[in-house]
Amino acid sequence: MSSAKSEASVEALFKPFKSKNLEVANRIVMAPMTRGFSPNGVPTEDVAAYYRRRAENGVGLIVTEGTLINHPAAGGNPNIPNFHGEAALQHWANVAKAVHEGGGKIIPQLWHIGLTRKIGDLPNPEALPIGPSGLNLTGEKITEPLTENEIADLISAFAQAAADAARIGFDGIELHGAHGYLIDQFFWDKTNKRTDRYGGDLASRTRFAVEIIEACRKAVGPDFPIVLRFSQWKAGQYEAKLAETPEQLSSFLAPLVDAGVDVFHCSTRRYWEPEFAGSELNLAGWTKQLTGKPTITVGSIGLDNEFRSSTGDSAHPASLAGVLERLENGEFDFVAVGRALLADYEWAAKVRDGRSDELRNYDTALLSALN
Ligand SMILES: Cc1cc2nc3c(=O)[nH]c(=O)nc-3n(C[C@H](O)[C@H](O)[C@H](O)COP(=O)(O)O)c2cc1C
Repeated sequence: MSSAKSEASVEALFKPFKSKNLEVANRIVMAPMTRGFSPNGVPTEDVAAYYRRRAENGVGLIVTEGTLINHPAAGGNPNIPNFHGEAALQHWANVAKAVHEGGGKIIPQLWHIGLTRKIGDLPNPEALPIGPSGLNLTGEKITEPLTENEIADLISAFAQAAADAARIGFDGIELHGAHGYLIDQFFWDKTNKRTDRYGGDLASRTRFAVEIIEACRKAVGPDFPIVLRFSQWKAGQYEAKLAETPEQLSSFLAPLVDAGVDVFHCSTRRYWEPEFAGSELNLAGWTKQLTGKPTITVGSIGLDNEFRSSTGDSAHPASLAGVLERLENGEFDFVAVGRALLADYEWAAKVRDGRSDELRNYDTALLSALN
């Protein structure tokens, strides 16, 4: 890679982004990463400092780790942060303030894990796991299908979290509709066998997400960005697919666009993989082309090994040339960086300042501390 080429390309990463309701200083997004440093669901000052360091060092937009909506079976670990309750929300307000002082923007990732929760998991061991048809990701029946009333309560809990995010100073929300968690359990035919309006073909299986998006939009108004993260793959099932063809992807995305999604966060583990035969476009590329909406790509950016690889997901820095070329070509609008930013809070500043030789390796041992 010639230096002239790499300089021009890095510029693409640091161009401001502006749409009708979102302005970001550059194209670097911190990918949401669960860390488990929020005892009893309340993020500490260390959590605020952790995100602030990334903002101070050039990350344009931070998507927080998954944070739980107000439902007893939303999570399965008492160190995962809540996005409800006075104590947690007060600390989240501090996190948002810290990131703003650091010069970045921040949106919480709103999460319900659905039937990836195990019976008896903390913090509410009595709360049974829930999902569209009571099926876990391997198709085993664990609990009864959700009733319509229970679905309505879940939708309200997402909308309340969105309203709270706006009230306490966040810059938008991201709905976690990926990786086989609750919203994705509605999307996926293996876990959604419903015969009411929440089930059926792929477009019909977006109904739960559509109603969440509409309720969130009603709660926050038109000027507050709603990002939807989705993926083909599911936890432990990396070959799973929602859409086998561009036509199917289009029928999946259309109702979500109509409901009011502003930005799609298209989760893949290897950004360079074509999503469908016959085109180089990745999932974010196709999603942008089919919807006209801004998209975020993600997956092994700046690293030589993918997330949850069979060899473990430790990784070394790798060239950015491929992703920069796609960004320059307008295939997508943002580039989300996960493990590389977990390993090195100066990642964006080092890339910006031509200090790529100083980038750090990612190792799972790093997960034991919040650096
Ligand atoms: C420690 C860790 C925790 C993660 N937690 C979440 C999460 O809470 N929500 C989510 O959508 N993705 C989560 N992910 C996936 C990342 O957002 C990202 O998609 C993935 O790491 C691939 O990006 P990378 O190759 O740059 O690391 C997590 C990844 C890691 C490494």
